[in-house]
Amino acid sequence: MNEEQRNMNEQAKPFKPLQPTKDYSAYFQAPSLKDAKKRGKEEVAYEQFSINAQFKGMGNGRKFMIQTFGCQMNVHDTEVMAGIFESLGYEATEDVNEANVILLNTCAIRENAENRVFGELGHLKPLKTKNPDLLLGVCGCMSQEEAVVNKILKTYDQVDIIFGTHNIHKLPEILNEAYMSKEMVIDVWSKEGDVIENMPKVRNGGTKAWVNIMYGCDKFCTYCIVPYTRGKERSRLPQDIIQEVRELAAQGYQEITLLGQNVNAYGKDLEGFEYGLGHLMDELRTINVPRIRFTTSHPRDFDDYLIDVLAKKGNLVEHIHLPVQSGSTSMLKIMARKYTRERYLELVAKIKKAIPDVALTTDIIVGFPNETEEQFEETLSLYREVGFEMAFTYIYSPREGTPAAKMSDNVPMDVKKERLQRLNAVVGEYSEKALKPYVGQVVEVLVDGESKRNKDVLAGYTRRNKLVNFRAPKEVIGKRVLVRVTDAKMYSLNGEFVEVVEKVEV
Ligand code: 5AD
Ligand code: SF4
Repeated sequence: MNEEQRNMNEQAKPFKPLQPTKDYSAYFQAPSLKDAKKRGKEEVAYEQFSINAQFKGMGNGRKFMIQTFGCQMNVHDTEVMAGIFESLGYEATEDVNEANVILLNTCAIRENAENRVFGELGHLKPLKTKNPDLLLGVCGCMSQEEAVVNKILKTYDQVDIIFGTHNIHKLPEILNEAYMSKEMVIDVWSKEGDVIENMPKVRNGGTKAWVNIMYGCDKFCTYCIVPYTRGKERSRLPQDIIQEVRELAAQGYQEITLLGQNVNAYGKDLEGFEYGLGHLMDELRTINVPRIRFTTSHPRDFDDYLIDVLAKKGNLVEHIHLPVQSGSTSMLKIMARKYTRERYLELVAKIKKAIPDVALTTDIIVGFPNETEEQFEETLSLYREVGFEMAFTYIYSPREGTPAAKMSDNVPMDVKKERLQRLNAVVGEYSEKALKPYVGQVVEVLVDGESKRNKDVLAGYTRRNKLVNFRAPKEVIGKRVLVRVTDAKMYSLNGEFVEVVEKVEV
């Protein structure tokens, strides 16, 4: 920050010190595999959320806006924060000009996700000058990174609040402190996180709902920032999850997605009883909700019991997202994925045997440090061998503090980009191949709403996660309908509306 900027900032907020007086270094832990091994031995507290009476009405006459970046976990965290805001009396707005609080719920998974947030902070800065009472906050995964917090402290002093992913439940206290204090309020726990129940939520749409079953990740894949930003693996208690799903079913939700960074590790940390994702799915199977999904899986923890339960189908859909990351055993080892190409293929074979019509999708990273052409080709050959129906593909992005970020890298960016293109060509080819056989068939579609491209067309997904576009009256939005597929594109299907599905097959 130069002298001129400092003066400008001081005009906007005359009493705010340029640097906070507290020492925030204690809030952060340097990423460490040694500490990771100690994880799980620490106590996780299970607490009930409540709002202190002194904060009730804090938001009366005020409006909030949350901009969400990144994955479904963040989208759901935003629903929780919106719930807390509304409990405090705030009203939601989509207009930055009338918001009294703006939060950026951020993603740290790749560098470009972070750059978008810094760009947005720049765009929002003039609002602070226009409206000095506006509170601007940064939350989500980026707030858990020491380097990001330091960068904000140095360069983005339009920010009033920074809080981490583990302490969303402290939002009322954090807001109160921000109103009372002229300093930037930073609330990032060094603790690895607890489980807070009974948080209010504002769910959008009334059709699809997301339910956390666990938080955090202990896998420590060498490229990944998530175990540091989301804390240690901790499962919600089965009865709390089942209760939430029952309530959503009673409210008429049509699809529930169970969320966790590694849902297959669900229950491992619950002491005193043997209970995993398979047991949970077997109980949820009996609840009167048409579709239940889960994301994201880790191949290492995907057990036989879960496969047996998924094979019972009913409301458990025939789609599994099973990130593989690479098809090369030597690369998987450097990534610390804890399985080989062969083990992954064995798992796929078991799943396909139990659920022959399963749709498998995956995540792949290309251009990991020193990835050879042969290793990359093993990824292409694995893709073909499994016959994935879709994939999210990424160029490796170094994340500060992760083991991979310290590796020297001999793969030039243009080679990485070229590999991504070659991989995406295979992804397109296999998607098209998976979609072609649907032509002429009648599929069940849960209708999300109007298609993004054409307001006269409706769009939704099948149980196997295929996007279907069709024309029908708008009243069918939020319902399950039958659609006769007329034609298949590379990534979606077109069809004709047949009828609404009335019954739930559980
Ligand atoms: N660079 C690129 N992609 C990454 N992912 C996670 N970390 C990185 C990184 N550093 C990808 C993985 C993961 C998905 C959510 O994001 O494929 O499954
Ligand atoms: Fe990241 Fe997923 Fe690996 Fe966990 S399992 S470290 S979230 S890639």
